[in-house]
Amino acid sequence: MRTRRATQHDAARISALIHSFTTDGTLLPRSEAFVSTHADHFIVAEDEGQVVGCVHLDEYAPSLSELRSLAVDPAAQGKGAGRALVLATEALARKRGASTLFAVSNDEAFFNRFGFVARHIPELDRERSEVSRYKGVFAKDLAV
Ligand SMILES: CC(C)(COP(=O)(O)OP(=O)(O)OC[C@H]1O[C@@H](n2cnc3c(N)ncnc32)[C@H](O)[C@@H]1OP(=O)(O)O)[C@@H](O)C(=O)NCCC(=O)NCCS
Repeated sequence: MRTRRATQHDAARISALIHSFTTDGTLLPRSEAFVSTHADHFIVAEDEGQVVGCVHLDEYAPSLSELRSLAVDPAAQGKGAGRALVLATEALARKRGASTLFAVSNDEAFFNRFGFVARHIPELDRERSEVSRYKGVFAKDLAV
């Protein structure tokens, strides 16, 4: 299992991975065009040369970044891709100067494992959609 920064060539696969978790509202859809435009902010996990997972690092505000669109192919889950993607996202966020990384998710137990804890993020209030309003916000301060 390894991670690498995405390129525009990964856009179709990333969009499809995210799409498979949109029907129950777990993730918001991301079009291939969106991913292609923002490819520099996506990271993929590869297993035996195949892209099996993805994540989006969204620079939400100065020094505040959001981990979004974390998805691992069900056939590849439980093998460390999710962990590798979270750690790679933290490393990229730190490199880009973020001091706090947060995620909006229903999966508190997963994010707790990585030191994210429920926190009110005031910057989020003005933009939270009806969907994300019912999820939790989990944040982690990043050591510089
Ligand atoms: C959540 C998700 C990314 C985990 O991916 P994964 O590749 O199976 O995760 P890993 O194999 O790296 O697991 C890392 C650790 O988290 C644990 N874990 C995995 N899923 C978990 C969950 N839903 N809740 C709690 N712990 C979980 C694993 O047991 C493992 O613990 P360990 O290191 O002590 O053994 C994957 O299930 C997924 O894509 N879910 C659908 C989309 C989603 O919910 N995204 C998150 C919201 S943004």
